[in-house]
Amino acid sequence: MVGPKHLWIVANWKSNKTIAQALEWVETVGPQIPKTVNLKVVVCPAFSCLSEVKKAVMVGNFPIIVGAQNLSPFDVGAFTGEEPASLLKELVSFSIIGHSERRQNFGETDEMIDAKVKQALASNITPLVCVQSAGTPVPPDCKLVAYEPVWAIGTGNPDTPENANQVALKIKQANSQVEVIYGGSVTADNVKGFNSQEHISGVLPGKASLNPQDFINIINACKE
Ligand code: PGA
Repeated sequence: MVGPKHLWIVANWKSNKTIAQALEWVETVGPQIPKTVNLKVVVCPAFSCLSEVKKAVMVGNFPIIVGAQNLSPFDVGAFTGEEPASLLKELVSFSIIGHSERRQNFGETDEMIDAKVKQALASNITPLVCVQSAGTPVPPDCKLVAYEPVWAIGTGNPDTPENANQVALKIKQANSQVEVIYGGSVTADNVKGFNSQEHISGVLPGKASLNPQDFINIINACKE
């Protein structure tokens, strides 16, 4: 990549926040995000508040990219309960795909993840594919990958920055032109360690993204 690497900070709210709580977060965090070219702040709310979050980001003109946490492996049609990329694109330009919680709790397979990435790309939605190790397949044309070891998610027990960097390097060697971010118990206290690694281009905090001040602290810790 030419120029300084991106710094992705992707908030994964998972199944949390009412619309009022989501809007409070946007109004608190939005004005405090520095408008730096290489900084990419993304928020991935539950589907139930995507529309309101998108509106609030536009009205406030905040440098926040709105993303989904998942999307359908199919296009529009008779797929009850699914959210196809070609409809979601009205609200999001980014989506997490293949999070380990979806693989574990909803039986998502590598084939489904492949299909979801194809749907996302066809609708100009940037897919962020989560992999659990350097051995997890990355679908073709996916340019952004999150390395998230299952044992580090929600446990307060993150991987070491050095090991995460080694895994990121392996993922980059196996998949040309991907950027790799790290997720799993990221906090304001440990984020700098990950972002200062050569092969890591950002982070995917879950729990620490929920509280607006915790999330601002993560952004600020990256600047220091
Ligand atoms: P955590 O979640 O930061 O709460 O560990 C990260 C994730 O699951 O994406």
